Amino acid sequence: MSITLNDITGTGGIAPGAGEILSIRGGRPLSGRVSVKGAKNLVTKAMVAALLGNSASTLRDVPDISDVAVVRSLLEVHGVRVVEGDEPGSLLMDPRDVESAHMEEIDAYAGSSRIPILFCGPLLHRLGEAFIPDLGGCRIGDRPIDFHLDALRKFGAVVEKLPSGIRLSAPHGLHGANIHLPYPSVGATEQVLLTAVRADGQTELKNAAIEPEIMDLIAVLQKMGAIISYEPNRVILIEGVKELKGYDHRAIFDRNEAASWAAAALATDGEIYVEGARQQEMLTFLNVVRRMNGDFEVHEDGITFRRGTGAMRGVTVETDVHPGFMTDWQQPLIVALTQAEGQSIVHETVYENRFGFTDALVKMGADIIVHPHGLQDGPRRVPRRQLEQAAVINGSTHLTGADIVVPDLRGGYSHVIAALTATGESTVRNIGIIRRGYEKLLPKLSGLGADFDVIG
Ligand code: EPZ
Repeated sequence: MSITLNDITGTGGIAPGAGEILSIRGGRPLSGRVSVKGAKNLVTKAMVAALLGNSASTLRDVPDISDVAVVRSLLEVHGVRVVEGDEPGSLLMDPRDVESAHMEEIDAYAGSSRIPILFCGPLLHRLGEAFIPDLGGCRIGDRPIDFHLDALRKFGAVVEKLPSGIRLSAPHGLHGANIHLPYPSVGATEQVLLTAVRADGQTELKNAAIEPEIMDLIAVLQKMGAIISYEPNRVILIEGVKELKGYDHRAIFDRNEAASWAAAALATDGEIYVEGARQQEMLTFLNVVRRMNGDFEVHEDGITFRRGTGAMRGVTVETDVHPGFMTDWQQPLIVALTQAEGQSIVHETVYENRFGFTDALVKMGADIIVHPHGLQDGPRRVPRRQLEQAAVINGSTHLTGADIVVPDLRGGYSHVIAALTATGESTVRNIGIIRRGYEKLLPKLSGLGADFDVIG
């Protein structure tokens, strides 16, 4: 049975197309319990890894989000059988009948996600060729793929750029390579891992990304039979093997969703228990919560977030690769910082255009100034990068409802939280984008006491 995007809603039954416009009445604290499932930025990659196996894989704690639906459909057009697994929220993927897909079938998914680029290595190993459509993903910068293509060429792939995407072939198979990434790119690291595990010989990857989601992908590949060692100083060594088998894996929790709900509790002065959140993978985020006079309590199976006693305080934060403050955390955090007393500075060092969402916050009354070329300011934990931007937030400010349009995934979530923080009514449009990464967003908001109607 082929699952199409229309079958996956992620909003408790409201199909995409409907449920695109919310009318939100803000000014009430969000309080209660939400559960976060597997990380969007691991689950989608582990699904691609299933292509490499010679038997079926089971992935558990798969969130019901449209990014998963896109990857599921792309696997199916390549002949992978994908069905519900042996427990709710699990997928069984059987890659034994993988075959080339027709270009127009793949093209249908052009622009819908960044994940297709990670099909390159597995398809080259299985079929000797691959066609990858133009990518999608959030408009938060150029999002080039030069690191990916350079790595694939080093493995022996031939890359041909077409008007609608790229075609790859491996006339002499794929062999191990020595790759030194110019920047610890998450996607490029995953590209190397998914290609090296079945390449002929050893691969050394230097300046690798080491996010928890990357380490979880390494765990998945090791379960399949891969030999991967994680050395000091961001070096990963992979010994290529001939065969990999299927895996059974429960995905790591979604740190980005957990941080988003934490920021919602701080912004609306509520109290939210995030079930599934774990302290170890969120240490840097928790330090910022404490520095801004927020409060949190770590439990066996989750973390409770609330404000501390007295006013929240402004902080200076620089986004960075792991173990730094994740770039995906800054958008919801900034909403909370509009409610903190004093000045906050957020340096965005990973993407070159990730403050677009602040326009809507300013429209609601926030005092935020974006410096497109960053700030030459005082001592920093993170060295400046040439593409850096900075946002200066002065608080606390009273937000009032407005008519806003969601620009991207994390910015979109932040718009919803800002509308729930503001007094009065807001109309938030284009919320379908948020379904890409937040499972059952609307039922979760209702469960926390949010007052809204779906009006379009
Ligand atoms: C992943 O994107 C995540 N997406 C992003 O989350 C996350 O923000 C990002 O990693 C950083 O943690 C998924 O996993 C699907 P990068 P990715 O390659 O892999 C530059 C979300 O909201 N770069 O680490 O695309 C790039 O332009 C999303 O869930 C090149 O220059 O990120 C950026 O400036 C948003 N050339 C920097 O590296 C390349 O070939 C980091 O990008 C690749 C990347």
